[in-house]
Amino acid sequence: MSGYVLAIDQGTTSTRAIVFDGQMQIAGAGQKEFRQIYPRSGWVEHDPEEIWDSVVSTIKMAIREARIQAKDIAALGITNQRETVVVWERESGKPIHNAIVWQDRRTASYCDKLKRQDLEKTFTKKTGLLLDPYFSGTKLSWLLANVKGARARAAKGELCFGTVDAFLIWRLTGGKVFATDATNASRTLMYNISDNCWDKALLDILRVPAAMLPEVKDCADDFGITEKAILGAEIPIFGVAGDQHAATIGQACFEPGMMKSTYGTGCFALLNTGSDIVGSKNRLLTTIAYRLNGETTYALEGSIFIAGAAVQWLRDGLGIIDTASRTGELADAADPTQEVYLVPAFTGLGAPHWDANARGAIFGLTRNSGPKEFARAALEAVCYQSRDLLDAMHKDWKGGVESTVLRVDGGMVASDWTMQRLADILDAPVDRPVILETTALGAAWLAGSRAGVWPDRESFAKSWKRNHRFEPAMDEKTRAAKLKGWRSAVKRTLADA
Ligand code: G3P
Repeated sequence: MSGYVLAIDQGTTSTRAIVFDGQMQIAGAGQKEFRQIYPRSGWVEHDPEEIWDSVVSTIKMAIREARIQAKDIAALGITNQRETVVVWERESGKPIHNAIVWQDRRTASYCDKLKRQDLEKTFTKKTGLLLDPYFSGTKLSWLLANVKGARARAAKGELCFGTVDAFLIWRLTGGKVFATDATNASRTLMYNISDNCWDKALLDILRVPAAMLPEVKDCADDFGITEKAILGAEIPIFGVAGDQHAATIGQACFEPGMMKSTYGTGCFALLNTGSDIVGSKNRLLTTIAYRLNGETTYALEGSIFIAGAAVQWLRDGLGIIDTASRTGELADAADPTQEVYLVPAFTGLGAPHWDANARGAIFGLTRNSGPKEFARAALEAVCYQSRDLLDAMHKDWKGGVESTVLRVDGGMVASDWTMQRLADILDAPVDRPVILETTALGAAWLAGSRAGVWPDRESFAKSWKRNHRFEPAMDEKTRAAKLKGWRSAVKRTLADA
Protein backbone atom coordinates (compact mmCIF):
# COMPACT_ATOMS: atom_id res chain seq x y z
CA MET A 1 0.00 0.00 0.00
CA SER A 2 1.22 3.54 -0.75
CA GLY A 3 2.30 5.78 2.10
CA TYR A 4 0.35 8.80 0.86
CA VAL A 5 -1.79 10.34 3.56
CA LEU A 6 -4.19 13.23 3.12
CA ALA A 7 -4.78 15.77 5.88
CA ILE A 8 -7.60 18.29 5.93
CA ASP A 9 -6.90 21.30 8.13
CA GLN A 10 -10.20 23.14 8.34
CA GLY A 11 -9.19 26.42 10.07
CA THR A 12 -10.96 29.60 11.07
CA THR A 13 -10.19 31.68 8.02
CA SER A 14 -9.12 29.10 5.47
CA THR A 15 -9.18 25.42 4.65
CA ARG A 16 -6.03 23.58 3.72
CA ALA A 17 -5.57 20.10 2.35
CA ILE A 18 -2.14 18.52 2.27
CA VAL A 19 -0.95 15.27 0.73
CA PHE A 20 2.04 13.83 2.57
CA ASP A 21 4.14 11.08 1.01
CA GLY A 22 5.46 7.94 2.70
CA GLN A 23 8.46 9.90 4.03
CA MET A 24 6.06 12.34 5.72
CA GLN A 25 7.05 15.10 3.28
CA ILE A 26 4.55 17.44 1.64
CA ALA A 27 3.77 16.22 -1.88
CA GLY A 28 0.93 18.61 -2.69
CA ALA A 29 -1.27 21.20 -1.02
CA GLY A 30 -4.35 23.33 -1.60
CA GLN A 31 -5.70 26.30 0.34
CA LYS A 32 -8.87 28.33 0.14
CA GLU A 33 -10.18 31.19 2.24
CA PHE A 34 -13.89 31.53 2.92
CA ARG A 35 -16.18 34.27 4.14
CA GLN A 36 -16.22 35.55 7.69
CA ILE A 37 -19.76 36.66 8.43
CA TYR A 38 -20.28 39.33 11.11
CA PRO A 39 -24.07 39.74 11.53
CA ARG A 40 -23.65 41.97 14.63
CA SER A 41 -20.90 43.34 16.79
CA GLY A 42 -19.18 40.41 18.52
CA TRP A 43 -20.95 37.78 16.37
CA VAL A 44 -18.96 35.59 13.95
CA GLU A 45 -20.47 33.00 11.60
CA HIS A 46 -19.39 30.73 8.74
CA ASP A 47 -21.54 29.21 6.03
CA PRO A 48 -21.12 25.40 6.45
CA GLU A 49 -21.73 24.92 2.71
CA GLU A 50 -18.80 27.21 1.93
CA ILE A 51 -16.67 25.24 4.38
CA TRP A 52 -17.72 22.02 2.68
CA ASP A 53 -16.98 23.39 -0.81
CA SER A 54 -13.58 24.59 0.36
CA VAL A 55 -12.79 21.13 1.73
CA VAL A 56 -13.67 19.32 -1.48
CA SER A 57 -11.89 21.81 -3.72
CA THR A 58 -8.69 21.99 -1.65
CA ILE A 59 -8.50 18.19 -1.52
CA LYS A 60 -8.69 18.13 -5.31
CA MET A 61 -6.01 20.83 -5.57
CA ALA A 62 -3.68 18.92 -3.23
CA ILE A 63 -4.15 15.64 -5.10
CA ARG A 64 -3.50 17.38 -8.41
CA GLU A 65 -0.36 19.08 -7.12
CA ALA A 66 0.93 15.79 -5.72
CA ARG A 67 0.39 14.22 -9.17
CA ILE A 68 -1.41 11.24 -7.70
CA GLN A 69 -4.95 9.94 -7.79
CA ALA A 70 -7.40 9.73 -4.94
CA LYS A 71 -7.08 5.94 -4.97
CA ASP A 72 -3.35 6.28 -4.11
CA ILE A 73 -4.21 7.73 -0.70
CA ALA A 74 -4.00 5.21 2.12
CA ALA A 75 -5.84 7.23 4.75
CA LEU A 76 -7.36 10.59 5.55
CA GLY A 77 -6.96 12.67 8.73
CA ILE A 78 -9.11 15.63 9.73
CA THR A 79 -8.15 18.50 11.97
CA ASN A 80 -10.30 21.55 12.51
CA GLN A 81 -11.09 24.85 14.17
CA ARG A 82 -12.52 23.78 17.49
CA GLU A 83 -15.71 24.76 19.39
CA THR A 84 -17.46 26.10 16.25
CA VAL A 85 -21.02 24.79 16.21
CA VAL A 86 -22.84 23.26 13.23
CA VAL A 87 -26.37 21.87 13.42
CA TRP A 88 -27.75 19.99 10.44
CA GLU A 89 -30.72 17.83 9.49
CA ARG A 90 -30.13 14.12 9.89
CA GLU A 91 -32.32 13.37 6.90
CA SER A 92 -30.97 15.85 4.34
CA GLY A 93 -27.58 16.82 5.78
CA LYS A 94 -28.61 20.47 5.39
CA PRO A 95 -27.46 22.94 8.08
CA ILE A 96 -30.31 24.73 9.84
CA HIS A 97 -28.25 27.86 10.52
CA ASN A 98 -24.82 29.29 9.81
CA ALA A 99 -22.05 27.82 11.93
CA ILE A 100 -21.48 29.86 15.08
CA VAL A 101 -17.74 30.37 15.29
CA TRP A 102 -15.60 29.93 18.40
CA GLN A 103 -14.85 33.66 18.41
CA ASP A 104 -18.55 34.56 18.63
CA ARG A 105 -19.55 36.34 21.85
CA ARG A 106 -23.34 36.25 21.56
CA THR A 107 -23.77 34.06 24.61
CA ALA A 108 -21.80 36.31 26.99
CA SER A 109 -24.89 37.25 28.99
CA TYR A 110 -26.09 33.63 29.09
CA CYS A 111 -22.69 32.64 30.51
CA ASP A 112 -23.00 35.42 33.09
CA LYS A 113 -26.44 34.11 34.04
CA LEU A 114 -25.06 30.60 34.56
CA LYS A 115 -22.23 32.06 36.62
CA ARG A 116 -24.73 33.91 38.81
CA GLN A 117 -26.41 30.56 39.43
CA ASP A 118 -23.03 29.48 40.76
CA LEU A 119 -22.61 26.84 38.06
CA GLU A 120 -19.09 27.61 36.88
CA LYS A 121 -17.50 25.24 39.40
CA THR A 122 -19.75 22.41 38.21
CA PHE A 123 -18.80 22.95 34.56
CA THR A 124 -15.09 23.35 35.33
CA LYS A 125 -14.94 20.25 37.49
CA LYS A 126 -16.46 18.07 34.78
CA THR A 127 -15.19 19.65 31.57
CA GLY A 128 -11.99 21.46 32.59
CA LEU A 129 -13.40 24.58 30.89
CA LEU A 130 -14.84 27.88 32.10
CA LEU A 131 -18.19 29.54 31.50
CA ASP A 132 -17.11 31.62 28.53
CA PRO A 133 -18.94 32.04 25.18
CA TYR A 134 -15.83 30.56 23.52
CA PHE A 135 -17.04 26.98 24.02
CA SER A 136 -19.72 25.18 22.02
CA GLY A 137 -22.33 24.43 24.72
CA THR A 138 -23.90 27.85 25.14
CA LYS A 139 -23.73 28.48 21.39
CA LEU A 140 -25.67 25.27 20.76
CA SER A 141 -28.15 26.26 23.42
CA TRP A 142 -28.61 29.63 21.66
CA LEU A 143 -29.28 27.90 18.33
CA LEU A 144 -31.86 25.58 19.86
CA ALA A 145 -33.63 28.53 21.43
CA ASN A 146 -33.50 30.80 18.39
CA VAL A 147 -34.15 28.60 15.36
CA LYS A 148 -37.86 27.89 15.21
CA GLY A 149 -38.76 24.35 16.25
CA ALA A 150 -35.11 23.33 16.65
CA ARG A 151 -35.27 22.06 20.21
CA ALA A 152 -38.26 19.83 19.57
CA ARG A 153 -36.73 18.47 16.36
CA ALA A 154 -33.43 17.85 18.15
CA ALA A 155 -35.20 15.90 20.89
CA LYS A 156 -36.84 13.72 18.25
CA GLY A 157 -33.40 12.95 16.81
CA GLU A 158 -34.04 14.88 13.60
CA LEU A 159 -31.07 17.22 14.07
CA CYS A 160 -27.37 16.56 14.50
CA PHE A 161 -24.91 18.75 16.40
CA GLY A 162 -21.25 18.67 15.63
CA THR A 163 -18.06 20.62 15.69
CA VAL A 164 -16.69 21.04 12.16
CA ASP A 165 -14.95 17.63 12.18
CA ALA A 166 -18.25 15.80 12.78
CA PHE A 167 -19.97 17.77 10.02
CA LEU A 168 -17.18 16.89 7.57
CA ILE A 169 -17.14 13.21 8.57
CA TRP A 170 -20.90 13.10 8.03
CA ARG A 171 -20.62 14.72 4.61
CA LEU A 172 -17.57 12.75 3.46
CA THR A 173 -19.16 9.44 4.40
CA GLY A 174 -22.46 10.36 2.76
CA GLY A 175 -24.22 10.53 6.12
CA LYS A 176 -23.16 7.04 7.19
CA VAL A 177 -21.03 8.07 10.16
CA PHE A 178 -21.99 10.50 12.91
CA ALA A 179 -18.91 10.81 15.10
CA THR A 180 -16.37 13.14 16.60
CA ASP A 181 -13.16 12.54 18.55
CA ALA A 182 -12.40 13.02 22.24
CA THR A 183 -10.40 16.24 21.74
CA ASN A 184 -13.17 18.03 19.89
CA ALA A 185 -15.74 16.73 22.37
CA SER A 186 -13.61 18.09 25.21
CA ARG A 187 -14.19 21.65 23.94
CA THR A 188 -17.97 21.58 23.97
CA LEU A 189 -18.69 22.24 27.67
CA MET A 190 -20.85 19.09 27.59
CA TYR A 191 -18.21 16.37 27.75
CA ASN A 192 -17.00 14.90 31.03
CA ILE A 193 -13.24 14.62 30.58
CA SER A 194 -12.67 12.25 33.52
CA ASP A 195 -15.47 9.82 32.67
CA ASN A 196 -14.99 10.26 28.93
CA CYS A 197 -18.68 10.65 28.09
CA TRP A 198 -21.33 13.28 27.39
CA ASP A 199 -22.47 14.57 30.77
CA LYS A 200 -26.20 14.21 31.36
CA ALA A 201 -26.37 16.85 34.11
CA LEU A 202 -24.62 19.45 31.97
CA LEU A 203 -26.85 18.66 29.00
CA ASP A 204 -29.85 19.26 31.23
CA ILE A 205 -28.54 22.64 32.38
CA LEU A 206 -27.91 23.70 28.78
CA ARG A 207 -31.17 22.06 27.63
CA VAL A 208 -29.41 20.08 24.91
CA PRO A 209 -31.07 16.77 23.90
CA ALA A 210 -28.61 13.85 23.96
CA ALA A 211 -30.22 12.52 20.77
CA MET A 212 -28.39 15.14 18.71
CA LEU A 213 -24.86 14.33 19.88
CA PRO A 214 -22.25 12.36 17.92
CA GLU A 215 -20.46 9.23 19.06
CA VAL A 216 -17.06 10.07 20.59
CA LYS A 217 -14.10 8.06 19.32
CA ASP A 218 -10.33 7.92 19.87
CA CYS A 219 -8.21 10.26 17.74
CA ALA A 220 -6.87 7.37 15.67
CA ASP A 221 -9.98 5.34 14.98
CA ASP A 222 -12.32 4.17 12.26
CA PHE A 223 -14.40 7.19 11.17
CA GLY A 224 -15.81 5.56 8.04
CA ILE A 225 -14.97 5.66 4.35
CA THR A 226 -15.38 8.57 1.95
CA GLU A 227 -18.13 8.22 -0.68
CA LYS A 228 -16.60 7.44 -4.05
CA ALA A 229 -18.66 10.12 -5.80
CA ILE A 230 -17.07 12.90 -3.72
CA LEU A 231 -13.33 12.40 -4.21
CA GLY A 232 -13.23 9.66 -6.82
CA ALA A 233 -12.16 6.93 -4.39
CA GLU A 234 -13.11 5.35 -1.12
CA ILE A 235 -10.58 6.59 1.43
CA PRO A 236 -10.71 5.50 5.07
CA ILE A 237 -10.90 8.35 7.60
CA PHE A 238 -8.55 7.13 10.31
CA GLY A 239 -7.58 10.26 12.25
CA VAL A 240 -9.42 13.20 13.83
CA ALA A 241 -8.27 15.85 16.32
CA GLY A 242 -9.00 19.49 17.04
CA ASP A 243 -6.32 21.66 15.46
CA GLN A 244 -4.45 22.51 18.67
CA HIS A 245 -4.39 18.86 19.68
CA ALA A 246 -3.20 17.81 16.23
CA ALA A 247 -0.42 20.40 16.51
CA THR A 248 0.56 18.95 19.90
CA ILE A 249 0.84 15.56 18.20
CA GLY A 250 2.60 17.00 15.13
CA GLN A 251 5.13 18.65 17.46
CA ALA A 252 5.61 15.23 19.09
CA CYS A 253 4.83 16.64 22.54
CA PHE A 254 4.11 13.13 23.83
CA GLU A 255 5.87 13.42 27.19
CA PRO A 256 4.48 15.16 30.28
CA GLY A 257 6.06 18.62 30.59
CA MET A 258 6.39 19.14 26.83
CA MET A 259 4.72 22.22 25.48
CA LYS A 260 3.76 23.71 22.13
CA SER A 261 2.29 26.99 21.06
CA THR A 262 0.58 27.56 17.71
CA TYR A 263 0.36 31.04 16.25
CA GLY A 264 -2.57 31.09 13.81
CA THR A 265 -5.65 33.31 13.97
CA GLY A 266 -5.30 32.98 17.72
CA CYS A 267 -2.57 31.46 19.82
CA PHE A 268 -3.00 28.29 21.80
CA ALA A 269 -0.38 26.85 24.14
CA LEU A 270 -0.77 23.25 25.34
CA LEU A 271 1.30 21.63 28.06
CA ASN A 272 1.16 17.83 28.16
CA THR A 273 0.33 16.70 31.72
CA GLY A 274 0.20 12.96 30.96
CA SER A 275 -2.57 10.96 32.60
CA ASP A 276 -3.00 13.67 35.30
CA ILE A 277 -6.05 15.89 35.10
CA VAL A 278 -4.46 19.07 36.42
CA GLY A 279 -7.05 21.58 37.57
CA SER A 280 -5.86 25.15 37.03
CA LYS A 281 -5.75 27.72 39.82
CA ASN A 282 -4.76 30.37 37.32
CA ARG A 283 -7.65 30.39 34.87
CA LEU A 284 -6.14 28.00 32.34
CA LEU A 285 -8.17 25.21 30.79
CA THR A 286 -7.81 21.51 31.39
CA THR A 287 -8.38 19.60 28.20
CA ILE A 288 -7.86 16.26 26.49
CA ALA A 289 -4.53 16.45 24.63
CA TYR A 290 -5.33 13.24 22.72
CA ARG A 291 -6.90 9.83 23.25
CA LEU A 292 -5.12 6.86 21.71
CA ASN A 293 -6.01 3.19 22.19
CA GLY A 294 -8.57 4.21 24.80
CA GLU A 295 -5.90 5.96 26.88
CA THR A 296 -6.44 9.63 27.59
CA THR A 297 -3.59 12.12 27.83
CA TYR A 298 -4.47 15.50 29.29
CA ALA A 299 -3.13 19.01 28.85
CA LEU A 300 -3.26 22.43 30.37
CA GLU A 301 -4.21 24.96 27.74
CA GLY A 302 -3.86 28.70 27.46
CA SER A 303 -6.02 30.23 24.74
CA ILE A 304 -5.47 33.67 23.24
CA PHE A 305 -8.12 34.71 20.74
CA ILE A 306 -6.14 37.15 18.61
CA ALA A 307 -2.59 36.52 17.35
CA GLY A 308 -2.18 36.48 13.55
CA ALA A 309 -5.60 38.14 13.38
CA ALA A 310 -3.99 41.34 14.77
CA VAL A 311 -1.62 41.40 11.80
CA GLN A 312 -4.57 40.76 9.50
CA TRP A 313 -6.28 43.76 11.08
CA LEU A 314 -3.25 45.96 10.36
CA ARG A 315 -3.40 44.83 6.74
CA ASP A 316 -7.16 44.64 6.04
CA GLY A 317 -8.69 46.86 8.72
CA LEU A 318 -6.22 49.73 8.91
CA GLY A 319 -4.50 49.18 5.58
CA ILE A 320 -1.14 50.23 7.05
CA ILE A 321 0.84 47.18 5.93
CA ASP A 322 0.85 45.49 2.51
CA THR A 323 1.73 41.94 3.37
CA ALA A 324 1.55 40.08 6.66
CA SER A 325 4.99 38.56 6.10
CA ARG A 326 6.62 42.02 6.14
CA THR A 327 5.34 42.91 9.61
CA GLY A 328 8.53 41.69 11.32
CA GLU A 329 10.69 43.94 9.13
CA LEU A 330 8.49 46.91 9.90
CA ALA A 331 8.52 46.16 13.62
CA ASP A 332 12.30 45.95 13.55
CA ALA A 333 12.46 49.51 12.24
CA ALA A 334 10.12 50.91 14.93
CA ASP A 335 11.34 53.75 17.15
CA PRO A 336 12.78 52.05 20.27
CA THR A 337 11.96 55.05 22.47
CA GLN A 338 8.20 54.77 21.88
CA GLU A 339 6.26 52.55 24.23
CA VAL A 340 3.18 51.62 22.25
CA TYR A 341 1.04 48.74 23.55
CA LEU A 342 -1.79 47.09 21.64
CA VAL A 343 -4.21 44.96 23.67
CA PRO A 344 -5.98 43.03 20.88
CA ALA A 345 -9.15 42.24 22.81
CA PHE A 346 -11.19 42.43 19.58
CA THR A 347 -13.33 39.49 20.66
CA GLY A 348 -12.79 39.79 24.40
CA LEU A 349 -9.78 38.46 26.28
CA GLY A 350 -9.10 34.77 26.76
CA ALA A 351 -6.72 33.16 29.26
CA PRO A 352 -5.92 34.05 31.92
CA HIS A 353 -8.33 37.05 32.06
CA TRP A 354 -11.50 35.62 30.45
CA ASP A 355 -13.22 38.93 29.95
CA ALA A 356 -15.79 38.46 27.20
CA ASN A 357 -16.76 42.13 27.25
CA ALA A 358 -13.28 43.65 26.94
CA ARG A 359 -12.55 45.27 23.58
CA GLY A 360 -9.24 46.21 21.91
CA ALA A 361 -7.23 49.22 23.00
CA ILE A 362 -3.97 50.91 22.11
CA PHE A 363 -1.86 52.91 24.54
CA GLY A 364 1.17 55.17 24.36
CA LEU A 365 0.56 56.84 21.00
CA THR A 366 2.48 60.01 20.21
CA ARG A 367 2.52 62.19 17.11
CA ASN A 368 5.47 60.15 15.91
CA SER A 369 3.65 56.83 16.12
CA GLY A 370 3.09 55.22 12.74
CA PRO A 371 2.78 51.87 10.96
CA LYS A 372 6.13 50.65 12.31
CA GLU A 373 5.13 51.17 15.92
CA PHE A 374 1.70 49.60 15.29
CA ALA A 375 3.39 46.60 13.69
CA ARG A 376 5.74 46.17 16.65
CA ALA A 377 2.89 46.58 19.13
CA ALA A 378 0.82 43.90 17.34
CA LEU A 379 3.66 41.38 17.28
CA GLU A 380 4.75 42.14 20.83
CA ALA A 381 1.17 41.70 22.05
CA VAL A 382 1.38 38.07 20.94
CA CYS A 383 4.64 37.66 22.88
CA TYR A 384 3.29 39.30 26.04
CA GLN A 385 0.15 37.18 25.96
CA SER A 386 2.26 34.04 25.53
CA ARG A 387 4.25 35.11 28.57
CA ASP A 388 1.03 35.50 30.59
CA LEU A 389 0.05 31.95 29.63
CA LEU A 390 3.42 30.47 30.47
CA ASP A 391 3.50 32.25 33.81
CA ALA A 392 0.13 30.67 34.63
CA MET A 393 1.39 27.25 33.52
CA HIS A 394 4.48 27.58 35.70
CA LYS A 395 2.22 28.13 38.69
CA ASP A 396 -0.19 25.30 37.85
CA TRP A 397 2.09 22.47 36.82
CA LYS A 398 3.92 20.77 39.68
CA GLY A 399 5.15 24.11 40.93
CA GLY A 400 6.92 25.03 37.68
CA VAL A 401 8.14 24.02 34.24
CA GLU A 402 11.56 25.58 34.54
CA SER A 403 13.35 23.54 31.94
CA THR A 404 10.55 23.54 29.37
CA VAL A 405 11.34 24.69 25.87
CA LEU A 406 8.47 26.01 23.82
CA ARG A 407 7.93 24.34 20.45
CA VAL A 408 6.24 26.78 18.11
CA ASP A 409 4.34 26.52 14.84
CA GLY A 410 1.72 28.32 12.75
CA GLY A 411 1.94 31.12 10.18
CA MET A 412 3.55 33.72 12.45
CA VAL A 413 6.59 31.64 13.36
CA ALA A 414 8.14 32.21 9.93
CA SER A 415 9.10 35.67 11.23
CA ASP A 416 12.54 35.53 12.89
CA TRP A 417 11.94 38.91 14.49
CA THR A 418 8.76 37.72 16.20
CA MET A 419 10.30 34.47 17.42
CA GLN A 420 13.37 36.26 18.80
CA ARG A 421 11.13 38.75 20.59
CA LEU A 422 9.07 35.83 21.91
CA ALA A 423 12.17 34.18 23.41
CA ASP A 424 13.19 37.57 24.85
CA ILE A 425 9.84 38.22 26.49
CA LEU A 426 9.42 34.64 27.72
CA ASP A 427 13.02 34.52 28.91
CA ALA A 428 13.03 30.94 27.63
CA PRO A 429 14.23 29.16 24.49
CA VAL A 430 11.85 28.83 21.57
CA ASP A 431 12.22 25.92 19.11
CA ARG A 432 10.97 26.19 15.54
CA PRO A 433 10.64 22.84 13.74
CA VAL A 434 11.61 22.07 10.15
CA ILE A 435 8.02 21.15 9.24
CA LEU A 436 5.85 24.14 9.99
CA GLU A 437 2.65 22.39 8.87
CA THR A 438 2.53 20.76 12.28
CA THR A 439 -1.24 20.72 12.60
CA ALA A 440 -1.78 18.89 9.32
CA LEU A 441 1.16 16.60 10.09
CA GLY A 442 -0.43 15.61 13.41
CA ALA A 443 -3.71 14.69 11.72
CA ALA A 444 -1.84 12.84 8.99
CA TRP A 445 0.18 10.89 11.57
CA LEU A 446 -3.01 9.78 13.35
CA ALA A 447 -4.41 8.46 10.07
CA GLY A 448 -1.14 7.14 8.60
CA SER A 449 -0.06 5.25 11.71
CA ARG A 450 -3.47 3.63 12.06
CA ALA A 451 -3.34 2.62 8.39
CA GLY A 452 0.04 1.03 9.11
CA VAL A 453 1.82 3.10 6.45
CA TRP A 454 3.50 5.60 8.83
CA PRO A 455 5.79 5.01 11.83
CA ASP A 456 4.63 4.36 15.37
CA ARG A 457 4.59 7.07 18.02
CA GLU A 458 8.18 6.58 19.18
CA SER A 459 9.73 6.65 15.72
CA PHE A 460 7.53 9.58 14.75
CA ALA A 461 8.71 11.52 17.83
CA LYS A 462 12.32 10.81 16.87
CA SER A 463 11.72 12.19 13.39
CA TRP A 464 10.85 15.66 14.82
CA LYS A 465 13.59 18.08 13.70
CA ARG A 466 14.44 21.58 14.81
CA ASN A 467 15.01 24.28 12.24
CA HIS A 468 16.19 26.90 14.74
CA ARG A 469 16.40 27.58 18.47
CA PHE A 470 15.84 31.21 19.52
CA GLU A 471 17.62 31.96 22.80
CA PRO A 472 16.59 34.90 24.99
CA ALA A 473 18.92 37.86 24.47
CA MET A 474 17.09 40.78 26.10
CA ASP A 475 18.47 42.20 29.34
CA GLU A 476 16.36 41.72 32.44
CA LYS A 477 15.78 45.43 33.03
CA THR A 478 14.31 46.01 29.57
CA ARG A 479 12.15 42.90 29.81
CA ALA A 480 10.81 43.88 33.22
CA ALA A 481 9.99 47.41 32.03
CA LYS A 482 8.19 46.11 28.95
CA LEU A 483 6.17 43.59 30.96
CA LYS A 484 5.19 46.29 33.42
CA GLY A 485 3.93 48.45 30.55
CA TRP A 486 1.96 45.53 29.10
CA ARG A 487 0.33 44.61 32.41
CA SER A 488 -0.74 48.16 32.99
CA ALA A 489 -2.23 48.31 29.45
CA VAL A 490 -4.20 45.09 30.06
CA LYS A 491 -5.49 46.38 33.37
CA ARG A 492 -6.82 49.49 31.69
CA THR A 493 -8.51 47.39 28.97
CA LEU A 494 -10.44 44.91 31.14
CA ALA A 495 -14.15 45.71 31.03
CA ASP A 496 -14.64 44.68 34.62
CA ALA A 497 -11.73 46.82 35.86
O1 G3P B 1 -10.07 27.07 19.55
C1 G3P B 1 -10.02 27.68 18.30
C2 G3P B 1 -8.90 27.11 17.46
O2 G3P B 1 -9.07 25.76 17.32
C3 G3P B 1 -8.80 27.87 16.16
O3 G3P B 1 -7.58 27.66 15.58
O4 G3P B 1 -5.83 27.85 13.89
O5 G3P B 1 -8.17 28.36 13.25
O6 G3P B 1 -6.85 29.87 14.78
P1 G3P B 1 -7.11 28.51 14.28
